[in-house]
Amino acid sequence: MSVILAIESSCDETSVAVCINGKITANVIANQTIHENYGGVIPELASRVHQQNIVPAVQQALAIAKVNKNELSGVAFTRGPGLLGALLVGVSFAKSFALALDLPLIAVNHMQAHILAHFIDEPKPNFPFLCLTVSGGHTQIVLVKDYFDMEIVGETLDDAAGEAFDKTAKILSLPYPGGPLIDKYAKEGNPLAFKFPEPQIQGLNYSFSGFKTAILYFIRDRQKENPLFIEENLADICASVQHSIVNILLNKLKKAAKQYQIKQIAIAGGVSANSGLRNALLEQKEALGWDIFIPAFEYCTDNAGMIAIAGYHKFLAGDFIGQEVSPMARMNF
Ligand code: KG4
Ligand code: ZN
Repeated sequence: MSVILAIESSCDETSVAVCINGKITANVIANQTIHENYGGVIPELASRVHQQNIVPAVQQALAIAKVNKNELSGVAFTRGPGLLGALLVGVSFAKSFALALDLPLIAVNHMQAHILAHFIDEPKPNFPFLCLTVSGGHTQIVLVKDYFDMEIVGETLDDAAGEAFDKTAKILSLPYPGGPLIDKYAKEGNPLAFKFPEPQIQGLNYSFSGFKTAILYFIRDRQKENPLFIEENLADICASVQHSIVNILLNKLKKAAKQYQIKQIAIAGGVSANSGLRNALLEQKEALGWDIFIPAFEYCTDNAGMIAIAGYHKFLAGDFIGQEVSPMARMNF
């Protein structure tokens, strides 16, 4: 019997989950709306809100899971990567909680956890598989050989895919985070209305900074001709930008699948909630005979459920960490 409490605080969601014998029985996510006013996450504000949220979120998760704290077997937490101050709140809480209850501590890598979210519900992928992890801070193609044996075979050299969505949204004067709004407006638009250049990057790596600049100049030029260009074409712009980003992501993923001769393909991270990406991937199921793995929406964007499942597999492996552990803003696999 194992009962794991998991804490996620790497960015702007305070989340707490409970995992009983590999099943997620609570996944409380307190979103921080305060950042909407600023067009991006303000690290200092994020830390303060985590401090306010963490105790009630733990109480709520335990209540939902109908678990008493004395029944816990271990405490898992996100060690990194993420905002240092935000991580510090979760790490400090997890350490004190584990110390007070004499429980083992389990340090989890946030990017690995995004991938391990595929082991929460059926169908689960078999090893090895390829995972495209696309979030606000990362864009990686990962060769997953085992739960904690992962190799990054391609990644962005500059901006992440989520940033490409969020920065486009900012250019269009949409609030932060813009990815979900672009997704929403794209549903009403023509994905072929406007064309944006695909970055020419060698191998399996990505680049999105030039793409973002191309969109900025495109909008500026069109606004010179028509000041109402954005308002009059919002759905078409969103659909075209989304179509381009999805194409860029998929082209490298196809290349990786061919290179590694792998047909089990997963997506993970916040951008894996994007309907354009999900649909484009499903089309490959037919076209290329891929087995596709797409997480449930609640496990795409940041959540402690994924930390809990990663923590559960580390618990089974007896992979614990001491009280001297500190958070890591940058953290490799
Ligand atoms: O994984 P995540 O919640 O946090 C990080 O670890 O970064 O990812 C957040 C990112 C943001 O850039 C957000 O705009 C993007 O995921 N995102 C989306 C969608 N939902 C979230 N991007 C496009 N379409 C969506 N539906
Ligand atoms: Zn994330």
